[in-house]
Amino acid sequence: MNTSLPHVYIRDIGQHTGKEVLLKGWLYARRSSGKLHFLQLRDGTGIIQCVMFVKDVPEETFKLADHITQESSIMVSGMVREDKRSPLGFELGVTGLEVVQMAAPDYPIAPKEHGVAFLMENRHLWLRSSRQLAIMNVRAEIISAVRDYFNGKGFLPVDAPVFTPAACEGTSTLFEVDYFDDKAYLTQSGQLYMEAAAMAFGKVYCFGPTFRAEKSKTRRHLTEFWMVEPEMAYCDLSQDMDVAEDFIEYIVSRVLKNRAAELKALERDTAPLERVKKPFPRITYDEAIALLQKDGNPAKWGDDFGGDEETVISKNFDRPVMINRYPAACKAFYMKKDPANPKLALCVDVIAPEGYGEIIGGGQREDDLETLRAKIQENKLPEQAFGWYLDLRKYGSVPHAGFGLGIERTVSWICGLHHVRETIPFARMMDKIWP
Ligand code: 4AD
Ligand code: MG
Repeated sequence: MNTSLPHVYIRDIGQHTGKEVLLKGWLYARRSSGKLHFLQLRDGTGIIQCVMFVKDVPEETFKLADHITQESSIMVSGMVREDKRSPLGFELGVTGLEVVQMAAPDYPIAPKEHGVAFLMENRHLWLRSSRQLAIMNVRAEIISAVRDYFNGKGFLPVDAPVFTPAACEGTSTLFEVDYFDDKAYLTQSGQLYMEAAAMAFGKVYCFGPTFRAEKSKTRRHLTEFWMVEPEMAYCDLSQDMDVAEDFIEYIVSRVLKNRAAELKALERDTAPLERVKKPFPRITYDEAIALLQKDGNPAKWGDDFGGDEETVISKNFDRPVMINRYPAACKAFYMKKDPANPKLALCVDVIAPEGYGEIIGGGQREDDLETLRAKIQENKLPEQAFGWYLDLRKYGSVPHAGFGLGIERTVSWICGLHHVRETIPFARMMDKIWP
């Protein structure tokens, strides 16, 4: 085989029509019929059908192709041809083949239906499937869109620490780790640090992994997930919601524009995504309770919402819905109380349409020193761990607000996936830390 041919990635194959190229990848599937072998080659950027005719290649090459095992690493040379019937639009007329490594014959993931539990145990291999290729590309698009959005709007990216001395989102979901002669916690959210950064730099965001010792085995919960958290000085709840809706509209439009092929591969109905346009409905918690009760849900004032309630509420709207002003008692200690009704917090949860649940939580922060100190005591949080956080209210405190968007729930919604475990390369859940 002529290995000096230009090495081309399948993604770019359309630029080489009528030319002979070299592809390097793995055998995804194979089908043979006497004089022909159809080799499905994947290289991480796509899958292409390589057609090998008995008379186009040396006899031993044709014989070799008959014995290649699934997932063997191979290099194939051939002529790029247009092929309107294939999903890619091109195929390769094979001129040569070289096996880099013949894979062991017992590759566990056969091209048939497997249960998800089995596939999750083989996640290191399952990632090679065309479905996972599509999901990871949508995830990557969302991540670039997140960075492009905030960088383009004058937000400074500020990285938050992963080891933290105290809780941000309640003490019941903390992962404790030994920290020399002391203990520390894996971060639940970078928010408190972003508040410090917002007072330094105005508009900021962090984007990184966050951790929750969630004892809930639901389709929406991971113990390790990625969150993007913008924070803005001189910002109130209403302006915070403006940013959240503009940001979500942008992310969805980017995926629709750049990842249409992936959404198609995932059989995602894109009509509901096309409808994700500003303005999003904004309802109060009180209105949400009324919607639930109208639907026969037993929710009563004061209850926090779980996945079931969020699903019922989302069914009333054709785009994300922004539920604001929850009872302060349901929400974290740092939320500012509504001056119009101190039982309420100036907060917002954005619920994705089609029953995908809460994708954003955020709101305006308590900016008064004494009120915040009282809240810390009320929540029995160690005051000395929050000394630096209280300082932010001592030295030039201003109204400020922000939010956190969970990447995995967003990927799950946009891709139309039932469970968040497929949205992250290696999911961490209560009962899962392998592979
Ligand atoms: O609502 P949460 O807990 O809000 C915060 O952490 C705030 N400190 C954010 C802020 O204002 N800067 O989490 C925000 C989002 C949720 O809406 C959800 O999308 C995601 O993070 N999330 C999870 N995703 C997967 N698994 C979990 N266990 C999650 N917990 C929260
Ligand atoms: Mg929340």
